[in-house]
Amino acid sequence: MASVIVIGTQWGDEGKGKIVDLLGEYAHIIVRFQGGNNAGHTICVGDEKFILHIIPSGILHQNKLCLIGNGVVIDPNVLVNGEIKGLKERGIQIDSTRLKISEKAHLIMPYHKLLDALKEQAKSPDKKIGTTGRGIGPCYEDKVGRNGIRICDLSNPDFFMEKLRDNLEEKNFLIQKKYNAEPLSPEKIYDEYMKLSETILPLMDNISAIVYKARKEEKHILFEGAQGTQLDIDHGTYPFVTSSNTVSANACIGSGIGPTDIDFVLGICKAYTTRVGAGPFPTELEDSVGHHLQEKGNEFGATTGRKRRCGWLDGVVLNDAIRLNSVNGLAITKADVLSGLNPIKLCVKYGLNNVETLCMPPIASDIGQLKCLYKDFAGWDKDISKIKNPDDLPKEVLDYIKGIEDFSGVPVCVLSLGVDREQTLIFKNPFTMSEKIHN
Ligand code: GDP
Ligand code: IMO
Ligand code: MG
Repeated sequence: MASVIVIGTQWGDEGKGKIVDLLGEYAHIIVRFQGGNNAGHTICVGDEKFILHIIPSGILHQNKLCLIGNGVVIDPNVLVNGEIKGLKERGIQIDSTRLKISEKAHLIMPYHKLLDALKEQAKSPDKKIGTTGRGIGPCYEDKVGRNGIRICDLSNPDFFMEKLRDNLEEKNFLIQKKYNAEPLSPEKIYDEYMKLSETILPLMDNISAIVYKARKEEKHILFEGAQGTQLDIDHGTYPFVTSSNTVSANACIGSGIGPTDIDFVLGICKAYTTRVGAGPFPTELEDSVGHHLQEKGNEFGATTGRKRRCGWLDGVVLNDAIRLNSVNGLAITKADVLSGLNPIKLCVKYGLNNVETLCMPPIASDIGQLKCLYKDFAGWDKDISKIKNPDDLPKEVLDYIKGIEDFSGVPVCVLSLGVDREQTLIFKNPFTMSEKIHN
C-alpha cells in the first residue's frame, strides 16, 4: 500500500498529466486536490490526445476510481458539458463507479469568471497576472471569505438560491459600480446550475471517507497536483501565482486526510523551464535557445493556448520545490527537447546586488533583477525519443541527469522522452519504492 503525491516543481506544465496517467496503472484511486480548470493536463496514448482540466488523469485506465477532493474549485459547466460529455463521446465510461466529487468542493460561479476578467482588465500592464480567466482567484476568495457556494448546496435548491441572491447583491454592485459592466441575473444562473446538478449530484460523495477506507484496505492512492510550486499562493512568486496551495501538503487538506498517510512525493520537473502568464522568470531565454525550446517542446498552454515562455532549468527553483514539498524522487520530462543544444545549462545560484544566494527572494521586483550563475553540461545531437533501454542513452544525457541528482540530492525515478505513455523510462517506481522506504 502506498499514497504517492505528484506535484509540479516549477511554474506548472511540467508533464504531471503524462506521469499521473503512467503511474495510474499501478494505483487503485487517483485524486485531484486543488486548483480547477486553470489546469490543463495532457495525456497521449497512441494517436489519441486528451487534455484534462478537472477530472483526474487516471480516468483513461478502466476500473480506476477518480476522485475530486474538497480543495478543488469546480466549474460545473466545464465539468459536465465539456469534460464528462467529451470523454463519454470518446468511449470513456463516466459514472459514480469511476468518478466521485467532494460534497465540500466549491463551485465556480459565472460572477467569478466575470470578475476574474474585469479585475485583470482593470490592472495596469505591469500588474496584470495573466490569469487563465477561469474564475479561480475570485472563487477561492469567496471560499476563504466564507461566502462560497459548494457542491452540496446544489442538493437544496432554496438554500442555493438564497446564497446566490446574497452573493449577487454584492457582486453586481461591484460589477456595475466599479467595473461599469452588465449585472448578472440570479434566475438565469439558478436554472443553469439546477440543470447541471442532475449530472453532478449522483457523483457527490464524502471523499475523505473514501480515501480513508482505501488506506485501511491497503490500496495504492495517487494524488495529482495541479500548477507548480512557484505558483503556490504562499510559497510562489507572489503575486504572480495562482490562488491555491500547490505544494504537496495540500494533498492532505484538499482531500481530507492527515500527513502521516503520505508515503512518497514525486516531483515532476521539466528538463528546462517554462512559464505561461506574467511574472518573474530568472532563467528565461529570449534568444535562439529559447526559440528552440518553445518550438521543439511545442510549448503552448494546454488551457489557454498561449505561447509558454522558455528558459534553462533552474536549480534554485528545483531545490526550493524539493524543500517545500518533501520531494522523495524526481520525474524529469521533455529531455528529448534538449537534443541539438550545446551546452546545456543548469542555474546553480543567483546573484542579487553583487550578493550570491541559493534562495528565491520573496519580492517579485527583486526576482526580476536576479543574475543567474550556470553550470554547463555537454549537449547531445542524437534523437533520444525512441530509446527504450537506459543503456542506450548517450553519456551526455546520463551526465545531465546525474548533475541534476547531485545538485538536488534527490534520485531521478522517471525519465520522460516523448509525449506518449510508451516514451518513458522508469528507473524506480514510486509505488513499490515507497514500500521499501517505509519497511
Ligand atoms: P501538466 O500541466 O503538468 O500536465 O503538463 P501539460 O500537459 O500542460 O504540458 C506538458 C506538455 O508536454 C504536454 O503537451 C505533453 O504532451 C508534453 N510532454 C510531456 N512529457 C513529454 C516529454 O517527455 N517529451 C515531450 N516532447 N513532450 C512531453
Ligand atoms: P497545470 O496544472 C501553468 C498560471 C496562469 C497565471 C497564474 C494565475 O496545467 O500545470 P489563475 O487562472 O490560476 O488565477 O492564473 O497561474 N497557471 C498555470 N500555469 N500551468 C497551470 O496548470 C496553471 N494554472 C494557472 O497562467 O500566470
Ligand atoms: Mg498544464
